[in-house]
Amino acid sequence: MRIAVFSAQPYDKQFLEQENQETGFQLSYFDLLLNETNADLCKGFDAVCVFVNDDLSPPVLTKLKNLGIRFIALRCAGFNNVDLVAAKALGVPVVRVPAYSPEAVAEHTLALILTLNRKTHRAYNRVRESNFTLNGLLGFNLHGKTIGLIGTGQIGLATAKILSGFGCNLVAYDPYPSDEYLALGGQYATLNHLYSAADIISLHCPLTDESQHLINTDSLAQMKQGVMLINTSRGGLVDTQALIQGLKSRKIRALGLDVYEQESQLFFHDHSGEIIDDDIFERLQSFPNVLVTGHQGFFTEEALSEIARTTLDNITCLSNAQPCENELTQNIS
Ligand code: NAI
Repeated sequence: MRIAVFSAQPYDKQFLEQENQETGFQLSYFDLLLNETNADLCKGFDAVCVFVNDDLSPPVLTKLKNLGIRFIALRCAGFNNVDLVAAKALGVPVVRVPAYSPEAVAEHTLALILTLNRKTHRAYNRVRESNFTLNGLLGFNLHGKTIGLIGTGQIGLATAKILSGFGCNLVAYDPYPSDEYLALGGQYATLNHLYSAADIISLHCPLTDESQHLINTDSLAQMKQGVMLINTSRGGLVDTQALIQGLKSRKIRALGLDVYEQESQLFFHDHSGEIIDDDIFERLQSFPNVLVTGHQGFFTEEALSEIARTTLDNITCLSNAQPCENELTQNIS
């Protein structure tokens, strides 16, 4: 089995090689985002292994099929970058890693909330400059605050568990309610109610046509003055221009983003010596109450091991013509 691994960073290689000692696949690594222009690199391979920002639109999928690619293995849970209908029509099964470590993303969500609230990023710099003043570092107790969770799947639930330990009130919206979330003492509500009740809103739902720009000018208008917003799910869930207006009007007290709609142009690469052309991103960076991390919610040793293991198991399953529970295309009619 020859597998072309795209968007491959040194850490991907490290964990895949570790797990591949048992499976013994032939893995070739490309430090590139897969797209229509470079899809020819897949010639001679049996499978393609991709990540969150690789392009698997119909033209790319058609090229892959014509080059003899038999399967596509995602090293992630989200699959908004893959046209599953086209993949199914072409007869190219797509598998993913549905849950590698929901706790990793949940804990990163908390890192964003706590940093923005207690401003430890600013305190760190101040103290290193021997400036021990506290002005501007004032936070609030999380205890007793209402947290709005949009999505109570694996990551939303793991986040709810941590926040319940902080003594927060939990209100959530999810079209498929979770008993485990209810058992924590959390409540479900309409989105409108959640927007008006929550002190902090955290997004944990997938990006779909329905959830695209869920957070926009209208939804922001319904939120509390001084709301904190956290997005560790997918950039397209929020209308970034609307967030900028919300920050300028002081409606948004703090904004934490681990994902960004145009992240494929920026994230996972070192642009420190370059001029960034994305004015929206640069405007976001200019606010002292905005914290952006470069899609690192998943980035723990445990998660990377699990991603590598499940990815190789998925490919083993498909190559042995066995049914694979992580196949996305099997649910497409
Ligand atoms: P999951 O599938 O376990 O849960 C998603 C939940 O969202 C489900 O309960 C579903 O019913 C709900 N949902 C679907 N549409 C909704 C809507 N319009 N409004 C509210 N809820 C809705 O997925 P999981 O593992 O919890 O992941 C959530 C998202 O986190 C993924 O879709 C992915 O985009 C993102 N993610 C981000 C990572 C990072 O490194 N920052 C890593 C892994 C996932």
